[in-house]
Amino acid sequence: MLREALEWMTTPAPAIARKLGYLGEAIATSARGRRQHKAWQEHRERTRRALVTASEGLGGTAALLGAGIIDDIPLAELSARFEKLVLVDIVHLAPVKQAARQLGNIELVCADLTGMAPALYRWQPGKALPEPAPGALAGRELDFIASVNLAGQLPVIPLRRLGRYLDETQAAALEAAIIAAHFGHLRSFNCPALFIGEVERRYSDRSGNTETAPALPGVTLPPAFDEWMWSLAPLGEINRNTALECRVQAVRLTG
Ligand SMILES: C[S@@+](CC[C@H](N)C(=O)[O-])C[C@H]1O[C@@H](n2cnc3c(N)ncnc32)[C@H](O)[C@@H]1O
Repeated sequence: MLREALEWMTTPAPAIARKLGYLGEAIATSARGRRQHKAWQEHRERTRRALVTASEGLGGTAALLGAGIIDDIPLAELSARFEKLVLVDIVHLAPVKQAARQLGNIELVCADLTGMAPALYRWQPGKALPEPAPGALAGRELDFIASVNLAGQLPVIPLRRLGRYLDETQAAALEAAIIAAHFGHLRSFNCPALFIGEVERRYSDRSGNTETAPALPGVTLPPAFDEWMWSLAPLGEINRNTALECRVQAVRLTG
């Protein structure tokens, strides 16, 4: 806890990312990754492999969205393959900055990939809901773009901020709109686009009861070239009685 509090105080981040809770969430995810190092190992390895496979034979500029703490990104390998790697996230924690400095061809872009953060922060009950408008990389010439374990995360903070003012239908519509805008953004570049991320969440309890929920409501994906289970929160991580596993897919969207 102390480590995380210090990280929160000392990590440079846009004010809006602090105020809306993005920085806290990134630090919490990184701490969970450390606690669940073993449980997440295969997921991270499969993600790395999917990135290498899907970018085989490519060069030029690649953008990786949702870079996080790059635990699931084979940075050295991709840095050697591409002339330039653009790592996009709403916050970049210290290990990413260090790794980027060492490699020399990494650009860190600190951007909100929903395009709705300022409106989300300013929003007040009774006003029209903010709409997703991802445009962080607008005008860039890219040779490869990948969404890396990000899509299912994009609605988390917006729903946390607005959720108590919305009924179930409005919340579901907002979640679907954010996710649809993300896939539209990925497909808008004239280059191969890769999606890696959870497509289904499975909650189970100690008695073996299981409930599943789609992670990408409203999205129909092309066939995956790889698929695996990610034990995101084994028993004890969320609470003593609930475990969360995700079905993750690697899918070529275009190219
Ligand atoms: C589960 S992590 C991705 C895993 C990451 N590739 C790793 O190795 O740590 C999800 C990432 O999405 C980022 N994220 C969430 N919402 C975002 C937004 N609106 N814009 C940009 N990044 C966002 C988080 O900061 C976090 O780093």
